[in-house]
Amino acid sequence: MQIQTNFSTIYITTDIQKVLGKILNENQQNKTFILVDENTKKHCLPLIEPLVQSMDYTMIEINSGENYKSISTLEKVWSILAETGADRNSLLVNLGGGIISDLGGFAGSTFKRGMKFINIPTTLLSQVDASVGGKTGINFLGLKNEIGVFNHPKHVFIDSRFNRTLDKRNILSGWAEMLKHALISDEKDWEKIILHDIKTIGFKELNQLIARSIHIKNHFVEQDPREKGIRKALNFGHTMGHAFESLFMNTQNEILHGEAVAHGMICELFLSNMHCGFSIEKMGKIVKYIMGLYSKLKIEIIEFDKIFDLIGHDKKNEGHKLNFTLLEDLGKIKVNVNCSKDDIIKTLNWYTSL
Ligand code: GLY
Repeated sequence: MQIQTNFSTIYITTDIQKVLGKILNENQQNKTFILVDENTKKHCLPLIEPLVQSMDYTMIEINSGENYKSISTLEKVWSILAETGADRNSLLVNLGGGIISDLGGFAGSTFKRGMKFINIPTTLLSQVDASVGGKTGINFLGLKNEIGVFNHPKHVFIDSRFNRTLDKRNILSGWAEMLKHALISDEKDWEKIILHDIKTIGFKELNQLIARSIHIKNHFVEQDPREKGIRKALNFGHTMGHAFESLFMNTQNEILHGEAVAHGMICELFLSNMHCGFSIEKMGKIVKYIMGLYSKLKIEIIEFDKIFDLIGHDKKNEGHKLNFTLLEDLGKIKVNVNCSKDDIIKTLNWYTSL
C-alpha cells in the first residue's frame, strides 16, 4: 500500500526489505546513515542491515528515552555526520519510535541546511503519529519539543511486523492515537475501528487500519501544515492528556503517551458535552469502550490544582487562556475552545467518580 501526501510517500507493507531496497537503490545517496537506539539496534536493524551492507553506511546510536531527546544528543548526531563527511546528498534513515524520528528529523533538517531523511517508525504510536506530519524537534530547558522545525521526510516505511517486539501497553499507546483519529474523522471510522480487537489483530489487518489512520491525520496536516487552525484537531485529548503525562512523570506510576491521551479524550469528551453539546449517550458509549482498555488513572483531589497548573503550561495555550480542541459530534471539531478552571475541576471530579 502506498499513500502519496503533498510532502512524503508513505509505504505500508509487510515486506519492508523489498520496498526499502528498491528506494535505496533508486535514491543514489553518496552516504547512508542509520539512526538507532539500543532497542532498535537489537530488534529492528537486523531487518534493514542486509540492504545497506554493500553501501557506504554509518550507524549512529543514541540512548533511548525522553531524557535523551536533548541538545547534547543532537550535538552527538551532528558531530558524527560532520566527522564522517555527510553532505546534502547523503541520506539519514531514522529507525525507531517518535524520539528517533523527531530528533533525527531535526538533525537532518538542520545539518548543512538540510539533508534528505526517511523515517522507519518501529512503534505503533510513531507509525500513526510522529513519523508523518513533519514535526521534528528536541526537548529544551525541561520543555517538550521546545526547539524544532516543520520538515517532512522524503519517504516513510511502515511495516507492522515491527510491532511484534512491543509489549501490550505500548501497542495500546499507539491504539489510543488511532482511536483519536477515528473520533475526529466521523462516526463510520469510529464504528469500524472498535470492531477490531487490538490484542489479537493480524499484521495485514493492522496495516489497513494504520493506513486509514494516516489518511485521517494527513487530511488535517495538508489543510494546515503549520498548525495555525484545523490541524489542532489532532490535539483532541492532548491538553488534559499532556497534563496527566506530566503529573505521573518520574513517579512509580509513570504512564505512556497514548495512555495519557486515552484518559485525556475521556475528559475532553466531558468538556465537549459541556461546551459544544456533544451527545451524552455517545459520550457514555465511547467512555465505556476506552475505560475497558485503559486502566483508570489514580488521581487525588489534592492533585487537581497541579493538573490545572500543568494545563496552563501547555504550549498550545495563548496568553492566559486555556484552549482546547473539542467535539460537537464525531468529526465535528471546534478548535480554540476556552475552558475555565471551574470547568476543569468539574471534569476531574466527574472523572474520579467514574
Ligand atoms: N501529533 C499531532 C500533530 O502532528 O499535529
